[in-house]
Amino acid sequence: MSLYRNTVWFLNGIHHYTRKGYEAASKNFEPQDLDVSVVGRSFMVTGANSGIGRATAMAIAKKGGTVHMVCRNKDKAEEARADIVNESGNTEIFIHIVDMSQTRKVWEFAENFKKEYPSLNVLINNAGCMVNKRELNAEGLEKNFATNTMGVFILTQTLIPLIQKSRDPRVITVSSGGMLVQKLKEDDLQSEKGYFDGVMVYAQNKRQQVVLTQQWAKANPVIHFSVMHPGWVDTPAVSKSMPQFHQMMGNRLRGVQQGADTVVWLALSRAAARTRSGQFFQDRKPAPVHLPLAWTHSSPEEIECFMTQLELLARAVESQMDADVNTSARPQFV
Ligand SMILES: NC(=O)c1ccc[n+]([C@@H]2O[C@H](COP(=O)([O-])OP(=O)(O)OC[C@H]3O[C@@H](n4cnc5c(N)ncnc54)[C@H](OP(=O)(O)O)[C@@H]3O)[C@@H](O)[C@H]2O)c1
Repeated sequence: MSLYRNTVWFLNGIHHYTRKGYEAASKNFEPQDLDVSVVGRSFMVTGANSGIGRATAMAIAKKGGTVHMVCRNKDKAEEARADIVNESGNTEIFIHIVDMSQTRKVWEFAENFKKEYPSLNVLINNAGCMVNKRELNAEGLEKNFATNTMGVFILTQTLIPLIQKSRDPRVITVSSGGMLVQKLKEDDLQSEKGYFDGVMVYAQNKRQQVVLTQQWAKANPVIHFSVMHPGWVDTPAVSKSMPQFHQMMGNRLRGVQQGADTVVWLALSRAAARTRSGQFFQDRKPAPVHLPLAWTHSSPEEIECFMTQLELLARAVESQMDADVNTSARPQFV
């Protein structure tokens, strides 16, 4: 089954996820969709110093939006900010140094942000990683899961009260078409069973992001949630984590602006806000979250089990924080 699934997925990818796939899809784009000004609106972009996140931050800055860049490396963040300010002429670009793999730090950051800023219109969960060895973070969580799932979960959940009181609120998560080869593994969220394959662990996290988005959309009707696949894009993430794939695909990979296009469209356009909340997008269009005949559907019980585990893990981090002497910055999880 998985060989069938992987083959169908790869052939589909060659057709749609490449530069040619983007060029074909973009013929149906409405150029005026991005004819907007977002002066006065604020956007948080995680992983905004590189690749798709940086191209997204740049596009938003050019439309006048305030951008909160969430990055883990100060030097890289400052270099990217200088570039964005210089090219866009927009100085409302702010840096926040946060390592998204450190669950507790993400929580503290989100809680402080909520106190400091009166609104946040759009959250873009873009930062992501593919760690090919099983490593744990300070809270004992597997690193890919901690970054791609727990970091996204904690950041989004904590910011939801702020986002939902803002105008035209949206949350966009950059997932991957790779999730199509994975069924939610609610019985092994941290990849403890069997052989540890970084590519599949990453794809599992990306499936988790799709399920999370669907659940958030149901629970928070005021906010527009979406999750998307950028295509196969030439970025450091791909060249470092999948060097053979990067070499094999060469210039068939998309450029970063092509990869960021749907993120930007979901974040800025009125057309995106009119679509149903909770959907998966590819090239500005809702796309199926399962391959034909693929055994990747989950039951409501399996999804509930997944959500319960995320909450339990969050509570465990919260009680570690409770145990600290200085509880003044302790976040209130909602
Ligand atoms: N490129 C593709 O073909 C492709 C396909 C499907 C999905 N995606 C998704 O697209 C998103 C962006 O990736 P990209 O391709 O643009 O790669 P990229 O250029 O390497 O960017 C990844 C960004 O995430 C940041 N990041 C990673 N781990 C982090 C952490 N623990 N804390 C804070 N920031 C962290 C990176 O920071 P540093 O610069 O400090 O490392 C970088 O800014 C990811 O979610 C990825 O899974 C990409």
